[in-house]
Amino acid sequence: MAVEAVPVRIGILGMGTVGQGTVRVLQRNAGEISRRVGREIKVVHAAVRNPARLQGLRLDARISADPWAVVRDPEVDVLVEVMGGTGLARDLLLEAISRGKHVVTANKALLAEQGNAIFSAAQQQGVMVAFEAAVAGAIPIIKAIREGLAGNRIHWLAGIINGTSNYILTQMYREGWTFSRALAMAQELGYAEADPGLDVDGGDAAHKITLMASIAFGIPVDSFHCHVEGIRHLEAEDVAFAAELGYRIKLLGIARRRPEGVELRVHPALVPASHLLASVEGPFNAILVDSDAAGQSLYYGRGAGGDPTASAVVADLVDVARTMTADPSNRVPHLAFQPDALSNLPILPMGDVESAYYLRIRAENRPGVLAQVATVLAEHGISIEALIQRERASAESVPVVLLLHRCREGSLDEALGRISALPVVHPSVLRLRVESLAEG
Ligand code: HSE
Repeated sequence: MAVEAVPVRIGILGMGTVGQGTVRVLQRNAGEISRRVGREIKVVHAAVRNPARLQGLRLDARISADPWAVVRDPEVDVLVEVMGGTGLARDLLLEAISRGKHVVTANKALLAEQGNAIFSAAQQQGVMVAFEAAVAGAIPIIKAIREGLAGNRIHWLAGIINGTSNYILTQMYREGWTFSRALAMAQELGYAEADPGLDVDGGDAAHKITLMASIAFGIPVDSFHCHVEGIRHLEAEDVAFAAELGYRIKLLGIARRRPEGVELRVHPALVPASHLLASVEGPFNAILVDSDAAGQSLYYGRGAGGDPTASAVVADLVDVARTMTADPSNRVPHLAFQPDALSNLPILPMGDVESAYYLRIRAENRPGVLAQVATVLAEHGISIEALIQRERASAESVPVVLLLHRCREGSLDEALGRISALPVVHPSVLRLRVESLAEG
């Protein structure tokens, strides 16, 4: 095969873990990549704040401290943005687009919050914004949903899409660790974001599920209406109670299409211990997609790290390099559906969501307490499936765990308002959703 002489010229913003991983993968697999693309993909310019970071990397390219120098470099055909942030990164990206450069980005926060404006600018300029690396690292989930499942009507998807939280929950289950101990270890191992709040409070997963919901259902990106709960409030005892009931607790991102709108939510949930998602452990990610023709399909792999994320960045570079000469109207649309065919399905309020629930109540240990709780639930039409109460010698309050049948979240909210106000119950009631992940 004759590899064309003119390489595709890349500029990179950010030479941290992912930027360096991208350079390494491009170099290591240069031969195979050229055979796939028909041209060489060559990094010609990189922006790095601290050039000391480049020690040990063989990079034959211009190095600038100023990211604008890369964006304005006429020799750069494709910009790789792996610096993060939603202010400067947005301005740089829009400038690159206005100069007719294609963009590959791993910036989930930026796309989930401002993707509509960015995709629309790219559309007008006839350039591509590729973002496989923004969701679930090495797992090619964007391509799977947008192209692999393009013949399907997607019903819902549910994913373990934050490796840090999954590592923490795994350690709480396997080792009985507290949340704080497991978080400290996740940071030591380098899984967490610079601000670990984004991981453990659900924001990172919310950005990812928002992007997946858009390409699954053909709706504009709207992370502001995503319901977000994290895992900080979970105790080792909840993980143990869930196990006793036959479940594992996982932080899930869920997007579900319903006739009246889309459910878009991130929260910890009980999943059946026998389900494949329950055995996704440590920092791994997995996404389960339920669609009409394919049925259920599951995508599993490494959701973070230099080489795994670079795997997605380089795949996007290959895609861009292959189609940059094609007519823009014949390329895969950014959000899977043609821009003028996006649907205006609303994001539904949580009160309209239906689920089964786990409740952990701390109540006084005396006769009639359970009866009071059960009465309130019954008055709201909510039925109890299972119950655990542990005796604690000399304890003033005991944990009572209830598994509830499916009900409307709005009804449960009302019942919980009354239960937490009962004088015999401690006001901090923990409520977790139970997801069966059954087909349909
Ligand atoms: N910090 C993220 C995680 C990886 O823990 O999954 C990058 O999205």
